[in-house]
Amino acid sequence: MSTRKPIVVGNWKLHNTISESLALVTELKNQLAAVRDVEVGVAPVFTALHPVAKRLEDTAIQVVGQNCHHEERGAFTGEVAPSLLADAGASYVIIGHSERRQHFGETDEGVARKARAALDAGLRVIVCVGETESERDAGETERRVGSQVDAALAQLTPDDVPGLVLAYEPVWAIGTGRTATPAQAQEVHSFLRGRLEGKLGSQAAGVRLQYGGSVKAENAEELLAQPDIDGALVGGASLKAEGFRAIVKAAQGDRA
Ligand code: 13P
Repeated sequence: MSTRKPIVVGNWKLHNTISESLALVTELKNQLAAVRDVEVGVAPVFTALHPVAKRLEDTAIQVVGQNCHHEERGAFTGEVAPSLLADAGASYVIIGHSERRQHFGETDEGVARKARAALDAGLRVIVCVGETESERDAGETERRVGSQVDAALAQLTPDDVPGLVLAYEPVWAIGTGRTATPAQAQEVHSFLRGRLEGKLGSQAAGVRLQYGGSVKAENAEELLAQPDIDGALVGGASLKAEGFRAIVKAAQGDRA
């Protein structure tokens, strides 16, 4: 069994008002505040980030930004700097989510800049990679995720490893109910671990690799039991406390 501490993060995407967010984290706080063997995080919309962080102040539950800009300040209307996320109470930020790449034109180069800036601001980063369905069908999965990882890590060094989480989220499995099978996910995770080794040497063994894409209570245990799957990045199933708690429990089970 690996010594990597599992990490389960709920990516709420564009859901929940401030009061809905507070209701959800209050439930999570009651259910999960004592969990220490799994790192747990929630990623609210920006407007709810600070109130959520205040509510979770005395717990180990981490607050996660869904995106950030690579510049710290300036004439960048609508953007949020990494240090401002930290100021609002975030300790992590998700970078390069496929929805950002797909709908907002985010590029591999942009992801690299954001990762560097976020780490420099003292945040830890969850860098997302994943292939589309047509890339998988064309046998291009490894080429695609390999190049995404190479690009994202272009400005990182082995010293950055403690702040780095890599999330494999096959685009065809996001929000579709079609999960990668545990074997499919493990195959890509194992490939990614090897790719990280090429870049970071033996330090790669310490990088946590999350799987994301239709993770739910029913499939979490089998996915998280895979040797190179160290956690989950959960969308839809993280919007209800009970479902999310079950996924955290599955990650705990993997440690038992
Ligand atoms: P779903 O769990 O809703 O498929 O979303 C996955 C995801 O994109 C998490 O970042």
